[in-house]
Amino acid sequence: MNNKAVPLLEALREQGLYRELREIESANGAEIVIDGKTYLNLASNNYLGLTTHPRVVRAATEAIRRYGTGSGASRLISGTMSIHAELEQALAKFKQTECALVFSTGYMANLGLVTSLVGAEDLVISDRLCHASIIDACRLSKAKLLIFPHRDAGRLKDLLKKRAKKFRRTLVITESVFSMDGDIAPLDQLWKVCKEQDAWLLIDDAHGTGVLGPSGRGGLAHFKMMPQEGLIQMGTLSKALGSLGGYVAGSRTLIDYLINKARSFIYTTALPPASAAAALEAIRVIQDEPQRLKKLWSNVALWRDGLRRVGLPLVSDQTPILPVLLGDTRRTSAVAEMLRAHGIYAPAIRPPTVPKGQARIRTTVMATHSPQALEEAFMKMTALVHRGEL
Ligand SMILES: Cc1ncc(COP(=O)(O)O)c(C=O)c1O
Repeated sequence: MNNKAVPLLEALREQGLYRELREIESANGAEIVIDGKTYLNLASNNYLGLTTHPRVVRAATEAIRRYGTGSGASRLISGTMSIHAELEQALAKFKQTECALVFSTGYMANLGLVTSLVGAEDLVISDRLCHASIIDACRLSKAKLLIFPHRDAGRLKDLLKKRAKKFRRTLVITESVFSMDGDIAPLDQLWKVCKEQDAWLLIDDAHGTGVLGPSGRGGLAHFKMMPQEGLIQMGTLSKALGSLGGYVAGSRTLIDYLINKARSFIYTTALPPASAAAALEAIRVIQDEPQRLKKLWSNVALWRDGLRRVGLPLVSDQTPILPVLLGDTRRTSAVAEMLRAHGIYAPAIRPPTVPKGQARIRTTVMATHSPQALEEAFMKMTALVHRGEL
């Protein structure tokens, strides 16, 4: 093992691609504390700040009292608790679908969903920038995998016309909000093409859930679209919903099929009750406190305008994910380090997470950021730009 690992780790260090973990002592929804120092947290997908919302925390605590800390087994063995069922009903209502199914993580939801939908006789066409869990799911499915240029419905149509006929069925996959770029897929155009060409469309709404559309219902609602046969939605409970877990929302038949077929659902311990309860309460809070979503979007506008004023090149400016494109890997790591030295915590995103030459600082805005804290960060960044350090 050492023979293999040591040279690989050294090579990663030389290329500026070494990854290491940093321990966080505490987090309050807008700030984190590391080694006794407080940082503005621009690194979290906890977009609505719900991980620390008193109602969400209380719901998780009460669930532990009622059910214990773990689920004890797979959902099919002994693990289905009424809190799972309640959460699934709330998710289905939230996503306006007949049914929903919860997985232990979003990663596992993608693995289980894609491998259940397609196999060796099928074709998957995925957006070039889809998340690693989608790529891994496609590989595991053994379906033929093709890539369409990012957000390009026209090129997707060409590919479907040219290549889909030879296959039993075709699944097109996109994210609603792209995790590392922060831009929004043209879901209306993609679905039109898929319908014309008789392909299914899977939308990964991980970063759209709780963020896009009225009441944060997600990508489809943003485009004023309704769920339909052949249009499959998944997402996570781990981002705006402030918990852990993944979900698939669709027809009763799709969900029954997944319960019987999705190995990452069948052969793993169910989502802990506290996580299910937290996500369920988060959905309720989103509906009871619409001002949270408004605050998120006003912070997005504030941060976006500030970054523009500072003169930093943004990858996109449509969502709470506002990545600053720097390109060079080493420089990006150095900038992240320098921002940390100034109390700003924002991660350097490097290859292979993003394509070579497109390293970036991924900043994410939350509803719980105070405008003053964001302004203060701009002032620090402006000073760094003026000194030629950023
Ligand atoms: C687009 C996308 N899909 C799926 C996932 C996986 O979700 P989870 O973190 O819940 O496993 C993520 C999160 O990293 C993501 O960004």
